[in-house]
Amino acid sequence: MKILVTGGAGFIGGNFVQYMVNKYPEDQIINLDALTYAGNLETLKSVEDKPNYKFVKGDIADREFIMDLFEKERPDVVVNFAAESHVDRSIEDPDIFVKTNVLGTTTLLDASVKYGVKRYHQVSTDEVYGDLPLDRPDLFFTEKTPLHTSSPYSSAKAAADLFVQAYHRTYGLPTTISRCSNNYGPYHFPEKLIPLIISRALNDETIPVYGTGENVRDWLHVHDHCTAIDLIIRNGKVGEVYNVGGHNERTNLEVVKTVLKALDKPESLITYVTDRKGHDMRYAIDPTKLERELGWEPEYTFDTGIPQTIQWYLDNKEWWENIISGEYQNYFKEMYVDKGRAEE
Ligand code: NAD
Ligand code: TYD
Repeated sequence: MKILVTGGAGFIGGNFVQYMVNKYPEDQIINLDALTYAGNLETLKSVEDKPNYKFVKGDIADREFIMDLFEKERPDVVVNFAAESHVDRSIEDPDIFVKTNVLGTTTLLDASVKYGVKRYHQVSTDEVYGDLPLDRPDLFFTEKTPLHTSSPYSSAKAAADLFVQAYHRTYGLPTTISRCSNNYGPYHFPEKLIPLIISRALNDETIPVYGTGENVRDWLHVHDHCTAIDLIIRNGKVGEVYNVGGHNERTNLEVVKTVLKALDKPESLITYVTDRKGHDMRYAIDPTKLERELGWEPEYTFDTGIPQTIQWYLDNKEWWENIISGEYQNYFKEMYVDKGRAEE
C-alpha cells in the first residue's frame, strides 16, 4: 500500500510517519510537506534512510503540483495532517488558514477523486465543536455534536470537514475523519502550551498563562492519536467521523503546575497575561464510538505521558533549542537539497 501523508514534518504528522514507517515496512510512506515554520525534517531523522520512506517538499494548495504528484505516485491512501495549526496565529492572520486548511484540503480531495484514492483520511480537531461550559462537567463532544466554531483556525478546520463529507456524498470518495483532542508528546513545536512551559521553565523564564488559567483542555499523548488514525484508515467505516480522546481533562493552571513540579521549578514563574480573544473554555471528548467499534484504547494517561514527554525534551534539547534560536531557517536547503537527499 502506498500512503501519502501530508504535513508529516510537523508535530503529529512527524510522529505518525515514524510510527507507520517502522510498523509497516511493506507499505510505502510518502511525506509531503511545505516546510513552513512548523515543519522540521530533523523530526524524521530516524526514518530518512528507510527504503519505505520518501520526502517531497510542496504545498497542498498548489493544484498543479498536487495533480502532478498524484499522477506520478498514484497513492492508495491519503492522510491529511497538513494545516496551519496555531489558534493564536489564526487570530492575527486568518488568510493563510483559509488557503492551507480549506483550499489545500479541497485540492487534495479533487486529486483523490481524479486518481481513485481508496481512502482519504482527514485529520481534524475537537475544536470544530466549539467549547463546553465549565459548570457542566457532564457534557462531552460526541460525533453528533453540531459544529460551532470559535476561532479562524477552528472555522477553517470545520469548513474542511464539511468539504470532506460533501466529497463523500457527492462524488463517492471513500473518506473518514478523526477529531482529536489536544495532543502532547515528542516533537511538539515550542509555541504550543506544554512544550512552551517545558522549554521556558528549563531556561527559568516566565510562563505566560492566558486569563485566569481555568480553561480546560483534554490532553492525549500523540502516540495514542497515531494508533487511532492507523486503526481508522484500516478498519474505519467509510463516510464516518471518529472522535479521539482519553478523558484527561486538566485546567491550564493544573498543566503548568504539574510540569513545573516535575522540573522542580517554582510556581513564581507563572505570569498571568491578557486572555486570548474568543478563548474556548472547555474541550472534552467522548471517544466511545472509536473504543466500541474499532477497539481503540489509549496507552498513556496524562500522569504517565507527561513524565515521558518531559524526559524527551530533556534528552532532545538540540531539537527544540535549534527551533527557538531560529537556526533552522536555512537548514533544509543546506542539509537536504544541496546534498541531494530530498526533492525541492
Ligand atoms: P503542526 O503545525 O505541528 O504541523 C503542520 C505541518 O503541516 C507542518 O509540518 C507544516 O510545514 C505543514 N504544512 C503547513 N502548511 C502546508 C501546506 N500548505 N502544504 C503542505 N504542508 C503544509 O501541526 P500539528 O499540531 O502536528 O497538527 C497536525 C494536524 O492535526 C492539523 O491538521 C491539526 O489541525 C490537527 N490536530 C492537531 C491537534 C494538536 O493538539 N496539535 C489536535 C487535533 C488535531
Ligand atoms: P494551545 O497549546 O495553543 O492549544 P489550543 O489553543 O489549540 O487548545 O493552548 C492550550 C491552552 O493553553 C489554551 O487554553 C490556551 C492556553 N495557553 C496559555 O495559557 N499560554 C500560552 O502561552 C499558550 C501558548 C496557550
